[in-house]
Amino acid sequence: MKLIRSLPGMRAWTEERRQEGKRIALVPTMGALHAGHLSLIELARRKADLVVVSIYVNPTQFGPKEDLKKYPRPLQQDLQLCREEDVAAVWAPKTLYEKTHSTWVEEDVVSQGGEGAQRPGHLRGVATVVLKLFNVVQPQVAVFGHKDAQQWELVQRVVRDLNVPIQLEAGEIVRDRDGLALSSRNVYLSEKERAAALALPLLLRLAVGRPDAVGWLRRELERAPSLRLDYVEIRNGRLCAAVRVGRTRLLDNVPCGAKQRKI
Ligand code: PAF
Repeated sequence: MKLIRSLPGMRAWTEERRQEGKRIALVPTMGALHAGHLSLIELARRKADLVVVSIYVNPTQFGPKEDLKKYPRPLQQDLQLCREEDVAAVWAPKTLYEKTHSTWVEEDVVSQGGEGAQRPGHLRGVATVVLKLFNVVQPQVAVFGHKDAQQWELVQRVVRDLNVPIQLEAGEIVRDRDGLALSSRNVYLSEKERAAALALPLLLRLAVGRPDAVGWLRRELERAPSLRLDYVEIRNGRLCAAVRVGRTRLLDNVPCGAKQRKI
């Protein structure tokens, strides 16, 4: 497996593989890989000849009071996992932005509500870095997770609207045995906080099929001990919720049979 740290290095690698006629799938990540990421890598392997995993903690998607500094960065462990998953190349750029960076991908519809309302600038940062990653790696396929439901919808919209020639695929949420959706941020949770966080997947499951699933879930999450509710919404056929437990923010969602927005 090749570890690439520079942008020209990544471009050169891609160029060579494309000349060999290889189909490349990109799995964009911020590292701290867990079984959820590994399932995306596995999906990517089924869709292409070679898998590239990008590992980059993108500063532009973090707000000034968010966890950019403390976000876990276990690069050696991530590389080992990628080797075991038969990844062809890991691209871990040191930075992706010029000091004078001033161009952004701003989407106006899918970005309303949800994370867009709670984290100003977050989705703009995601859309921008994803397009940058696409432009450098130039994969034929890119794989994202359903866990970030709004991000998934956003990426589909950006690819459609900006005519990006990439096939998008999404992998299902992977959960721990206790039901908590896997997230690199779960390491922040104390034992007590983790126990409280389990109300999120449990209540999401119980809400599906109720006549007023959104209202019911909102009430139950507001009542759940030690959780602070950010939002509940239906997005893209999934019932989605975001809560805070202590200083950790958790997102989760379940399919709920609602109509999906046409991308
Ligand atoms: O989902 C993530 O890990 C990030 O938002 C992504 C897509 C890698 C962009 O930084």
